Amino acid sequence: MSSSTAHKSSSAVEGGPSGRVARAAPSHEGAASDSFSRGGSLKISNVSFSVGGITILDDVSFEVKAGELFGIIGPNGAGKSSLFNCISGIYLPTEGQIHLSDKPIVGRRPTAVAKLGVARTFQNLALFNNLNVSDNLMLGRHRLMRTGYLTAALWFGRARREEVKHRLECAEIIELLGLSEVAKLPVGVLPYGAQKRVELGRALVSEPNLLLLDEPVAGMNDDETEQMSNLLRNVSQQLGITIVLVEHDVHMVQQLADRVCAINFGQVVVVGSPAEVVTHPTVIEAYLGADWS
Ligand SMILES: Nc1ncnc2c1ncn2[C@@H]1O[C@H](COP(=O)(O)OP(=O)(O)O)[C@@H](O)[C@H]1O
Ligand SMILES: [Mg+2]
Repeated sequence: MSSSTAHKSSSAVEGGPSGRVARAAPSHEGAASDSFSRGGSLKISNVSFSVGGITILDDVSFEVKAGELFGIIGPNGAGKSSLFNCISGIYLPTEGQIHLSDKPIVGRRPTAVAKLGVARTFQNLALFNNLNVSDNLMLGRHRLMRTGYLTAALWFGRARREEVKHRLECAEIIELLGLSEVAKLPVGVLPYGAQKRVELGRALVSEPNLLLLDEPVAGMNDDETEQMSNLLRNVSQQLGITIVLVEHDVHMVQQLADRVCAINFGQVVVVGSPAEVVTHPTVIEAYLGADWS
């Protein structure tokens, strides 16, 4: 487990904003290794997106620094998930550019964007309920496998050794997310909060350098929300992955995010520190309400 151990080694390097600690480059094989050692930067430049004559995103621009935990807030229907769809290649922006580090994203298919190191979770769970936790995570390793997971399951020798290596990597993430005890259980029988952690795990095992989280605590109770917050803080600080977090729980965003962008009617209202954003008059008027605190 040499590479896995490297994730937590003391040989961490300074990185990202506010002195966040990114781990040193682990000894992963292949092209993906670099991407896991540090987060990528994200640059959204004048992105607009329309469907059937309706403008859903209107000239959206902001930058997320490498290693940053960046929050996006805004009312329902503001365009937050659509923006994630543009970043992950599901929607093709009508105008504008998106860059991960220096690589352009617009025009690439979702699988090609994933290969660049962009992973995401969805607003609604997207898991295989009949597969156990470990197998759901193995599916997230797909982009790093030389033999496909199904091939690996059928072959011995090199494919077998590769599967063992990937399972060890998954086990590290399963432990980080507190899922070891349920690793062999079908995902469908787990409580909702645990299922959301499995979804996070499946994104993490793909060794992303940009993680897009769409409402990771929606529908969770207070305990589950706190647990997820702590996990996201750990993921950001220990793994150094750049995280963009869309979330309705503004208190959570306030506590976790380095910076926040507020969106309304497909437009950026303000980008700034959490304190700047939640005290912005338009954000209060359009989203938070006057008695918010
Ligand atoms: N593919 C689509 N076709 C038509 N309308 C869409 C599509 N995607 C999003 N929308 C509309 O765009 C608006 C923004 O949606 P969404 O991005 O899901 O908002 P949010 O995530 O901020 O709640 C909504 O009015 C939604 O109905
Ligand atoms: Mg949404």
